[in-house]
Amino acid sequence: MSSLIDYRSKSVTGLRGTIEVPGDKSISHRSIIFGSLANGMSEINGFLEGEDSLATLNAFRDLGVVIEGPQDGRLVIHGVGLYGLSAPKGDIYLGNSGTSMRLITGLLSAQPFRSRLVGDESLSGRPMRRVTDPLSDMGAVIEITEKGTPPVDIFGTSKLTRINYLLPVASAQLKSSLILAAMYARGLSTIEEPVITRDHTERMMSAFGCGITSNVSGCIKIEGGKDYRGTRIDVPGDISSAAFFIVAALICPNSNITICNVGINPTRIGILNILEKMGADIEVINERHDLFEPTADLKVRYSTLKGIKIPKNQISLAIDEFPIIFIAAACASGETILRGAEELKVKESDRIESMAKGLETLGIQTTVYDDGIKIIGGEIGSGTVNSNHDHRIAMAFSIAAIRSSGEVLIEDCKNVATSFPNFIDLAKEVGMRIDSEVR
Ligand code: S3P
Repeated sequence: MSSLIDYRSKSVTGLRGTIEVPGDKSISHRSIIFGSLANGMSEINGFLEGEDSLATLNAFRDLGVVIEGPQDGRLVIHGVGLYGLSAPKGDIYLGNSGTSMRLITGLLSAQPFRSRLVGDESLSGRPMRRVTDPLSDMGAVIEITEKGTPPVDIFGTSKLTRINYLLPVASAQLKSSLILAAMYARGLSTIEEPVITRDHTERMMSAFGCGITSNVSGCIKIEGGKDYRGTRIDVPGDISSAAFFIVAALICPNSNITICNVGINPTRIGILNILEKMGADIEVINERHDLFEPTADLKVRYSTLKGIKIPKNQISLAIDEFPIIFIAAACASGETILRGAEELKVKESDRIESMAKGLETLGIQTTVYDDGIKIIGGEIGSGTVNSNHDHRIAMAFSIAAIRSSGEVLIEDCKNVATSFPNFIDLAKEVGMRIDSEVR
């Protein structure tokens, strides 16, 4: 049996320093996908060397793409062109990565060969029908389990028809999966989203010069069969990883942390908008808008936070940050209420349940709703919590320990490596008292 990793994290009196977090996970996945489908070479810098984006990298190696690296976040991808992928020799293993599973399903449904996508226990429980139903409408032939989960068997075809589709859920993975299939369909496809979600696919396709247009009201048009050339992509730091250090500094008296080169794409800054409404002191400096993804440095100081009703229009813009937002809420005065966030139940774990359980263990009062949670700010106690195999739950409770009366033992933290392999090192660098233990 493989060993487990737990974290032990203790309170501290002040956090200081200037750090850089690893590359954005969503953009890293997409850099491999679009670099592989380009004609000729692409150079990627700042690639996240975490298990999830490496799963995408290995999948494209299985599909015959030559990729040099990663070395210090640098990759050279020898793109094979839109029609150059080859049949994999066996199952493609995607570990814990929902983004790899959803996006690659869309792409492989349009290839003239069979393939099978598999994942770990958590990924094998995640919903796939949202992706396979519209792909089937385009003519794809895909089999999943009766429960609508992976493994995904794809009987590829080169005859997909175009799609005009209004997304029934706010999901950038679904949107991107359909965009990838539409790149192979004859004619113009239109995908509309009722709520804006992260637009990294659209931005990257524009950077590569692929046939895509999108407007601010969420209508995306994709022209099938357009090939394009390789390019250079600089991946900014992941705001979803920065989020843990932002909240760490906000809840720890005497703290002042600067996080450099963070992606501040407007479709990802829900965390900043929500925390500012709670009273956070976050200065956005050195903004750069000349790249395909805007970046900035974030200067964060300890702040007295107050509970709020989280605005519904921020949910999709902060979808991965709720575990750590809930920790901010636990340290704020009064109530924080989140409703309309049922998507949180189908992430790497049910994030409403995982967080409510851990917060209750640490003495914070919560009420769980079918689409959200109420958290009443209070004193964080000590205790043992479990991540439910979920990287963001593990990191959120590591940060909660900063304000704990004793120490917090967080069980099952191995999956932190999926998105933030050097989390412990950076946490120590800014002054946290945190260690990992092998069980
Ligand atoms: C992602 C989209 C989001 C997010 C995930 C990454 C992406 O998922 O939670 O971590 O890169 O497209 P959904 O599309 O399921 O909301």
